Amino acid sequence: MDKIYIKGGRELNGEVTVSGAKNACLTLMPLSILTDEPLKMRNIPELSDINTMKQLLNSLGSNIQSDRSMGFLQIHTKKISNHVAIYDIVRKMRASILVLGPLLAREGRARVSLPGGCAIGARPVDLHLFGLEKMGAKLDLKDGYINASVSGRLQAATIEFPSVSVGATENLIMAASLAKGTTVLINVAREPEIIDLCNCVNSMGGRIEGIGTSKLVIEGVDSLKGTEHKVIGDRIEMGTFMLAPAMAGGKVKIKGCSPIYLRSFIEKLVDTGVDIEFGDDEVIVNRQNDYLNPINVVTEPFPGFPTDLQAQMMALTCLARGKSTLEEKIFENRFMHAPELIRMGARIQVQGGMASVIGVASMKGAPVMATDLRASVSLILAGLASKGETLVSRVYHLDRGYENIEKKLLGCGAEIKRVA
Ligand code: UD1
Repeated sequence: MDKIYIKGGRELNGEVTVSGAKNACLTLMPLSILTDEPLKMRNIPELSDINTMKQLLNSLGSNIQSDRSMGFLQIHTKKISNHVAIYDIVRKMRASILVLGPLLAREGRARVSLPGGCAIGARPVDLHLFGLEKMGAKLDLKDGYINASVSGRLQAATIEFPSVSVGATENLIMAASLAKGTTVLINVAREPEIIDLCNCVNSMGGRIEGIGTSKLVIEGVDSLKGTEHKVIGDRIEMGTFMLAPAMAGGKVKIKGCSPIYLRSFIEKLVDTGVDIEFGDDEVIVNRQNDYLNPINVVTEPFPGFPTDLQAQMMALTCLARGKSTLEEKIFENRFMHAPELIRMGARIQVQGGMASVIGVASMKGAPVMATDLRASVSLILAGLASKGETLVSRVYHLDRGYENIEKKLLGCGAEIKRVA
């Protein structure tokens, strides 16, 4: 199994371009089920999660063509040949649940394996099911599968989510786009990836209003056509690369995503004392101070501080001068990077959903183990800023969400390589 070797302590200088947003792709790809015409997408990253979604759509009958070098992907689902999303694929990636709404809307039936929990939390799908039931779906949970059906078309409804869920919002947007009548979704997630999904639906002939707000009004249409869509840049990847020079020192330009999507993260990074220059689709991060200020972070749904950047920000606070706190409000078990960072010399105490970090003057490289996607990259950041050698194992987590990360960091002067 591959590992990532890092020799830390080098300043980083250069330029990085972030890839297309993984989480946007993972909802745009199942969106293709809603039309019998081709959906063409650009700026698709080469990631194992994208391959898993391709495998799932293939199993349902989609024809998929891609040109990896160009980041191009075309999905054409002329006919659904199979209504079952099998456990073997769904267990690899929770976002597989996003085929449920589109299959129901197009075919009136679907059988999708329950995703089950994962390392960072229980992650139920009750909100997805709550919404689809309101639209007339009959749901039956049996043998680990959701059996869903509807007689005729899904019916429009007014659905107020009791709490905010990215995935449930996406499933319901797709379901409502082909339903009969006008659906109102209240208390929806407002992540940029959801805005990207809505824009793509509208360019396929859908009618969504209120895009980017917490209330969406979706007039169902009889059919959607194909379109060509450029996926937005990955804000989480941009945030991750911003932390690299902030921690290791140096000056790096990060391009390919609007910094507007990272406002709450950037506010905290500015508080640490790092210099940031902004462009439309780029930022330049410059670490000039010889110390970092401590910060207090609370993760929240967008536009709050993203849970997907909590682990990476924790790595930075390990090197700040004083005490920082990080409160995780989205997932109940998302501090698994803490014990690994402690192995590198960090001082962290975790109690429930709260972590307190007392910054140390320097950390030291060590063999560490990745436990999930964002945890794995937090260890890479810590390795870059530590003295000595770090070896990160279980990097398959990393390959789910970071395209060519070693090459990108190498281009900025990092000493990093993948070893077998
Ligand atoms: C998406 C992102 C993930 C990110 C997360 C929160 C994708 C592919 N993944 O995951 O990277 O960390 O948003 O920003 O886009 N919940 C329920 N019932 C439900 C659904 C969710 O209780 O039916 C809970 C979850 O357990 C979690 C919280 O709601 O505690 C937020 O989850 P949700 O927003 O649904 O995250 P995902 O869509 O799974």
